[in-house]
Amino acid sequence: MTPHNHAKPGDYAEAVLLPGDPLRAKWIAETFFDDAKLVNSVRNCLGYTGTWKGKPVSVQASGMGQPSLAIYVHELINVYGAKTLIRVGTCGGLNAKVKVRDLILAQGASTDSSIVKGRFGAFNFAPIADFGLLRSAAEKAEAAGMRYHAGNMLSSDIFYHANGMAGYDALPEHGVLGVEMEAAALYTLAARFGVKALTICTMTDCLITKDEIDAEQRQTSLRDMVELALDVAVEV
Ligand code: HPA
Repeated sequence: MTPHNHAKPGDYAEAVLLPGDPLRAKWIAETFFDDAKLVNSVRNCLGYTGTWKGKPVSVQASGMGQPSLAIYVHELINVYGAKTLIRVGTCGGLNAKVKVRDLILAQGASTDSSIVKGRFGAFNFAPIADFGLLRSAAEKAEAAGMRYHAGNMLSSDIFYHANGMAGYDALPEHGVLGVEMEAAALYTLAARFGVKALTICTMTDCLITKDEIDAEQRQTSLRDMVELALDVAVEV
């Protein structure tokens, strides 16, 4: 038990999916898991454990942003023994080659967050995905005929930049594919505690072309992404 999580040790599986939204965690558990059991509801930041294709798996909402995710992930690793953490989320697009609905597998995560920057002094640490999870997700996406891109994600602490796209400076020019708000902290914690992590995002709104996903596409895409993430999560 922690101030943010009332689950008991043993209540989570070693593989945990991390959507930002608590209601998406509920939807994932109810739609995909067999024998789903609610294990956490503190602050309505819902967590569930069940099975997927007979293998134990959990889902825990991370909330929005790196400070919130870092609390849940720190505790999942250090109190509950999580070993494989896969964020499933949405992101904005920063590159016109990434189309709405495409998946971005965040191979690396650049960030403006002091959560990451504050720890490395003069150095710019490069938060990266676990290679095995990344390779598995890419192979499975390819086999399923899903459109995906593996590359650099921006994990920003700011959703509403005062100066719009200029807030992202040179990042798109250096191949950064999309922007979300959690991956860099996830990868940094995973590196610190020696566990595996990956972020998979559906691109829902392109900041360059202004294309946006519609409600029906959103649901189908989320379904495909979650099934992919579950297959990767239970494999290890
Ligand atoms: N910025 C940050 N996070 C996001 C965005 C965005 O434009 N779209 C979806 N998640």
